[in-house]
Amino acid sequence: MASDKNVQSVRGMNDLLPGQVEYWQRVEAALREVSQRYGYREIRTPVVERTELFHRSIGEQTDIVEKEMYTFTDNNGDSLTLRPEATASCVRAGNEHGLLYNQTQRLWYVGPMFRHERPQKGRYRQFHQFGIEALGWAGPDIEAEIIAVGERLWRSLGIEGLNLEINTLGSATARARYRDALRAYLSDHVDALDADSQRRLERNPLRILDSKDPGTQALLNDAPSLSEFLEDAEHAGFERLQQLLAAVNIGFSVNTHLVRGLDYYTGFVFEWTTDQLGAQGAICAGGRYDGLVEQLGGHSVPAAGFACGLERLIELVTLQQGKTLIQSPRVFLAALGETAELEAAQRAERLRDAGVDVQMNCGQGNLKRQLRRADNCGADLAVIIDEETANTSAVKVKPLRGQGEQTSVSGEQLFEAVQTYLKKSD
Ligand code: HAM
Repeated sequence: MASDKNVQSVRGMNDLLPGQVEYWQRVEAALREVSQRYGYREIRTPVVERTELFHRSIGEQTDIVEKEMYTFTDNNGDSLTLRPEATASCVRAGNEHGLLYNQTQRLWYVGPMFRHERPQKGRYRQFHQFGIEALGWAGPDIEAEIIAVGERLWRSLGIEGLNLEINTLGSATARARYRDALRAYLSDHVDALDADSQRRLERNPLRILDSKDPGTQALLNDAPSLSEFLEDAEHAGFERLQQLLAAVNIGFSVNTHLVRGLDYYTGFVFEWTTDQLGAQGAICAGGRYDGLVEQLGGHSVPAAGFACGLERLIELVTLQQGKTLIQSPRVFLAALGETAELEAAQRAERLRDAGVDVQMNCGQGNLKRQLRRADNCGADLAVIIDEETANTSAVKVKPLRGQGEQTSVSGEQLFEAVQTYLKKSD
């Protein structure tokens, strides 16, 4: 059907345009470097997984599985889902390839995730996560390491002002006892709960701790606390983690109401937030998930990790560091006339061979026009070849920013002249 309306992108799924991509590349380079510094290795898993994977890991009663997944049936009749997160995929791949059998793994990944949420600033339907997963370690030492990876990433990006909150959800037994106590307490005050919390009361009362409703929060002030239900060993582990964080100067606060929206967490949980991005302030979150490997068909393997929302992280980098990352070619090559164009094409290739970023004038035009293009593309220097200079094998070098004067140099001196000027302007 013909229509004169432009085809638009899918709501909540963004294009990343030149000018934005430079920030992404900078952040991606930093997260690669930091992961490597701690011995984490990259894993790449498919964007599409069997739907069952997420039902069995994230949990049937979570918002993600209940209402946010992009699920479809393929031509074979299999139910498939665009991954809403990648922890489950890492565990699936680990089990499938025997990576978790008598081995430990430090893994990292980056890539698009999909959740059918209501889009707003900082919340998208296709978004990107950087994540790390440490599989095979049970102790607080690895938990402290994971936090240190995050802290180093913020530092390497020059990000300031993130708040780290930590909590422990305890063992499954402790949590089950606490769940009963919390449900009993809240059931006595059911009318004071917000509608969402009332819905969660029977099946998932711990998620009520997360409620943003002031009435519900007031009620929670007097509710039993999870820490009363923890075993001694769980208290000791959480204490040790705090000592380890303090030893490497990582600031944090304990928030006993911090719970997570995915069911697989079993002990330590945490979240870095900022108040600089409005409502969507969660930058990075994670925790321990000791039951998941077994739940997905593997052995019993302790594990912990986090995922960081790149759109939010990059928004913060842009906000705090300004727009200084635009990549422009360093040299613009202007050519006037057919002989000059041949000469310019050769000179451009030679400069590129030597590692200089060069943009050629394409589409001809007089000198004024070509110099306007040079200016618009952000180059530092224009090299001008006209019929006269082409015949004498000399070229003109014109600085486009700052003070310098236009000079004329021989072809052999061009590379040196360019280098000298670019060094000066750095
Ligand atoms: P999550 O809390 O669901 O955890 O997501 C982690 C981060 O992804 C959030 O803190 C946020 O920055 C970003 N994020 C989530 N949803 C959106 C969205 N719709 N738009 C933009 N950003 C979003 C997980 O996904 C777990 N897999 C983390 C983990 C790894 N736990 C252990 N290992």
